[in-house]
Parts: sequence; C-alpha cells; structure tokens
Amino acid sequence: MYWRDDYEKKVSTPKKALSFVKPGDSIFISGGCSLPKYIVENLLKKEAYHDNKILTPFTFMPSPYADPDVQKKFRVNSFYMDSVVERLVQNGHADYTPIHTSELPYMFETGRIHLDVAIIHVSPPDMHGHCSLGTSVDISKAATEAADVVIAEVNRQMPRTLGDSFIHVSQIDHIIEVDYPVEREMDPDGTAPEVLEAIAKNVATMVPDGATLQIGIGQVPNAVLAQLKDKKHLGIHTEMFSDGVVDLVEAGVITGERKSIHHKKIVTSFVIGSSKVIDFVDNNPMVEFHPSDYTNDPLLIARNRNMVAINTASSVDLTGQIISDFTGMDQATNPGGQADFIRGAIYGKGRSIIALPSASNDGKFSRIVPFVPKGAGLSSTNEDVHYVVTEYGVAHLRGKTIANRTLELINIAHPAHRAKLIDLAVAMGYLPQDQSKRPYLGKPYPKEFESVETFAGTKVLIRPVKPTDEDMMKELFYSFSPKTVRQRFFSERSVQSRMERMSQVNIDYDLTMTFGVFTGSGDLQKMIAVCGYEREPRASSAEVFFAVRDTWQGKGLGTFMLDTLIEVGKSRNVKTFTAEVLSNNSSMLNIFYRTGLDVSAKLDDDVYIVSFDLVKRSL
Ligand SMILES: CC(C)(COP(=O)(O)OP(=O)(O)OC[C@H]1O[C@@H](n2cnc3c(N)ncnc32)[C@H](O)[C@@H]1OP(=O)(O)O)[C@@H](O)C(=O)NCCC(=O)NCCS
Repeated sequence: MYWRDDYEKKVSTPKKALSFVKPGDSIFISGGCSLPKYIVENLLKKEAYHDNKILTPFTFMPSPYADPDVQKKFRVNSFYMDSVVERLVQNGHADYTPIHTSELPYMFETGRIHLDVAIIHVSPPDMHGHCSLGTSVDISKAATEAADVVIAEVNRQMPRTLGDSFIHVSQIDHIIEVDYPVEREMDPDGTAPEVLEAIAKNVATMVPDGATLQIGIGQVPNAVLAQLKDKKHLGIHTEMFSDGVVDLVEAGVITGERKSIHHKKIVTSFVIGSSKVIDFVDNNPMVEFHPSDYTNDPLLIARNRNMVAINTASSVDLTGQIISDFTGMDQATNPGGQADFIRGAIYGKGRSIIALPSASNDGKFSRIVPFVPKGAGLSSTNEDVHYVVTEYGVAHLRGKTIANRTLELINIAHPAHRAKLIDLAVAMGYLPQDQSKRPYLGKPYPKEFESVETFAGTKVLIRPVKPTDEDMMKELFYSFSPKTVRQRFFSERSVQSRMERMSQVNIDYDLTMTFGVFTGSGDLQKMIAVCGYEREPRASSAEVFFAVRDTWQGKGLGTFMLDTLIEVGKSRNVKTFTAEVLSNNSSMLNIFYRTGLDVSAKLDDDVYIVSFDLVKRSL
C-alpha cells in the first residue's frame, strides 16, 4: 500500500488508540523532550486499574508519574534515577532498573524486557514515508521495533533529526496528530552559580584542544561547556546534549575536525533543551542521532582520539567510587550512560572526569563521603575514575594508592568538612594514625599564590605544597647530588625520614609556608624545587630554605623562589627572613644580595647567618 494511504488509515484519536492497550500490558513511553504528552495525559486519566506497567527513561519534573493516583493504576519502572523516582522507589511506589543504557536495546530486542506497547513521538513523515524519532532516538527506536503495538504522536514541531533515527509509517499502528513545541529546559538543581562556575573552570583545565567530549546530563556539565569558549577543534560523541553545545558550534569551538571517527559530526542519542537546540538539530547534517547501543558502545567510544568523558555524581567516596543513586542528596544522577563512556574513554587512553559540588546545597553534607552509604548505588568503580573535580580543584586519582586518593579527595572537599574526613579516614585505616590535620585547621590552601612561569623554555607551576605532594618530595630528595644535600642540610645524609617530609607537606599556610615547583601535569607531574619559611607563633622573623633539583640549578628558579617568598611573607606579616648558608655557597648568597635588600651575613664557623628586612633596601 502506498504509504500516504497507510498513514491516513492509521490516523486516530487517543481514546481509540489506547483501546488497543490490554490489561497486563507493558507500555514503553519515550521520555525527555519526546514525552508524547497528549497520549500520556489520556493514558494516565484512565479510570480503571488494568495492571499495566509503564517503562520509561528520563522525564522532566514534575514527573507525570509522580501523582499518587497514577501509581494506584499503573506500576512505573524507570530506567533513569532522579530525586522524584528515588523517593517513589524508596516508598515502594515505583520500580527502578539499574542498567547500562547501551544494554536496553538488546533487552528489548530479545524480549528480556518485554514490551507490548510503545508510545512514541515523531516528526511528520518525509516524502518517502519515514518519520524521524526527533529529540530521542536513544532506546525509543529499539522499543518501537520490539513492541507489538506502536502508538505515535506525529508532531509538526518535532525536529527531523538525521542519522539512524527514522522509522517508517508502516511500523506505526496508530497515529495521533499533534502540534505543540517540544523544547524543555532542565530545571536548575539549586547549585549556586559561583560554585558551578568554579567547578567548570577547573574541569576546563583538563580539556585539551582537539578533544572529543562526552557531556553528561545536568547543570554541572552545562556549566563546563560555558567555560570551553577558548578551546579549539573540539568534537562531540555523547549520549545527550543540550543548548551549550550549540553555543560552542556557533563560536567555532566545536568543529569535529580532529575527530578520528564520525569526522566533523556531532554524535548523540538524544537532546534536551530550549528552542535553540531543537532548531539546531532540525535537518542538520552535522548532527547524527543513533540508538544508545551505538552511541554508548565503549569500544566505539574508545576509537575516538582524545576522548574526555565529563560526568557528574551525587557523591564520591574516599577511594573514588562514584555514587549516583539512593543517596538522599539534593539530586540523584543518572548512571545510565556514565560507566560506558568512562570505560570507553579509558580504553581509548582518554580521560574520565567526575565533576560535582563539594557539598550539598545547604553546605551541611559533604559530597565527598568516607564510605558508600547503605543502599546507595555505585555507577563507577574506583579504578575507572581518573579525576574528580569540585569547586576547590582537581583530585588526580589514576595510579594512586588508597591513602593518596583519600588525601587528593580531601584536598578538594569543602574546607568545613576536611578535618572530619581526615579523622574518619584514619579511623577506617585509609590514612596512617599519625596523619596530620594541620593543613585543614587554620587558613585554607592559598590558591592565590599559585602561578605558572617559564624557565629554560619550560612552563613550571609554582604553588604552596599540599599533603599529597609527599611522594614527589621524596623523589626530589633522592635525586639530589651529595653536594646539593650538603649545601641544604650541612651533612652527608643519604636518607630522609617520612616524618620530616610529612612536616614539610602538612603545613598551616601561615607560620609554615612551603612552595613546590612542578613540571608536567596530572600523573606525570614532577617536583623540581622546594623552598619555604618557618617561624614561631607570634614571631616576626622566619627562617627560609631552598633546594633545586641539580639539573634545574642555574636557570633562575632560586632567584624567583626567593622573590615569591618575600611577597608571600610580607602578606603574612613576616618582617625579616633569616637563613643559614655554607660559606662556599656563593650561589645562594648571591641570590640574597641580588634582592637589593639590606642583607647582613655573619660568619659563624663555616656558616653564614644571613638576615634581612623584607622591605628595607641596602644603601
Ligand atoms: C642555591 C640554589 C637554591 C640556587 O638555586 P638556582 O635555581 O640554581 O638559582 P638561580 O638559577 O636563580 O641562580 C643561580 C645562578 O644561576 C644564574 N642564573 C640564573 N638564571 C640564569 C639563566 N637563565 N641562565 C644562566 N644563568 C642563570 C644566576 O645569576 C646565578 O649565578 P651566580 O651563582 O653566579 O650568582 C640551588 O643551587 C640549590 O638548590 N643548591 C643546593 C641547596 C642549597 O644550597 N640551599 C640553600 C641553603 S638553604
């Protein structure tokens, strides 16, 4: 039959179409911007209980299934976890199926999850009778192909999205013609804008030019996109995207030019957002929609060069396990595609980033938690997570021990919760009994003293040390030549105690200040120099020390470090610096004299006792 005649015959009313739903049927209903509102309203209004199950992915708040009357008539089974579903499930009013979204098409196709009816939302047919699944191809395509009865809202305003996104009129049984806008933006989850911005800025430091991104769902990933405006040649291979991607395409940032597969194409399985993204995906050959078993296939994801998977979480435990549901936090997050993208990024030697606010919106609860709460669901194991990012920085977890992961994560926890987390980590055996809490009790880590400089053509980071720097400090000590050791410690020592290093990295950023100089980044970071000062409580004079890796001496680091310590000391009310310098250490003495300050050096045996006022210049 000619498809147009077929179409005309199938045009129906919701009442007539829904009369084909039988008692006991399992009904799939597409979600997000593709929720077929008109039919769903009619379905949920049904008076009698017919023992029907509703299977559904993501819905916007307020969810149509949250109504207690609906729950009396239908049993809802969600594949997506949000705070409404979480409450319903915990109260026994609904079901939740934890499953990788990539597996759902297979589950439908093979009848492992049986579907009697699929209620979907499509664009009007094209000249060949093909309707596009529009904003949601995801699991809707497989559900359509698996269900015995297909009821479709055919909406003039549903965008005609391209890719593996079409079903033919012949595959639909009942057609309800509608005409309403499908755009819908995610409701804000209450995270403060300045927190979102700070998280996003930290994530942006981890995204190299030419990367292919997967952006998870929610406010954090959206905020990240807004901070990528200065990047170049980004690509997108993702489960879903929203308005932020359109801004970056228009700004020329997302070009897909460096993508190793689907060159120059944006690959996704669904979109949500305002008319901006809905108009963007309409008939746009730059965007390819595919079912979730394709977009979320870890082996395909791995074929993307420089893949960066950016997801969010409800909370993370001190070993780096990602907790996404049943957390009782302000928002739960959907683990659906997360694990597949994280694994795909790892297989492809890319990066997996989990970004989240450090605390609940009211600040009462840390989202970095000592252990996985009872009943909570994990979406990723600790091996899978390379980086965790909060508004306080980036925790580097890849290749780190449990103790180092714990310290990395406590470093980016909310300052109000850090000391308590140390206590709990010690109690659980994650940290040694003698772990210091000094960095977390007084002044917070002074990020304002971080700077990037260039020495001998190499960019180096100079920053106050953190408790996590102990391993790098150890490596630096054992790289020193006997001469450097003698000049720094006035002895031939070949061993440095862990206690000594611990006292250098666990500092209060006030009486004691230690700076490290670093090359490289992430897990390839190396410490090439250390300096610092220490003073007694209420003293105005502090003693300084310096040590530069032998291969980096004579390149200006010592001079720069002293200038830094002088500025930092002044801001911390230090008036004078003192130092003990071996009489033959002309290099160190010259650095002091070159400051132009009023330096005095008194020889005591073989050691000069150097002292100078941080402000007073020599005559
Ligand atoms: C002393 C020490 C900290 C100096 O650090 P450094 O990074 O080598 O210091 P700088 O590079 O700024 O200056 C060292 C020399 O290099 C020169 N220099 C600096 N930048 C340079 C550059 N770009 N090109 C060539 N020479 C340069 C300086 O003029 C200086 O020359 P001088 O010794 O003739 O005065 C380092 O040698 C060291 O760690 N020594 C062992 C430990 C120690 O002595 N500690 C001090 C006791 S607490």
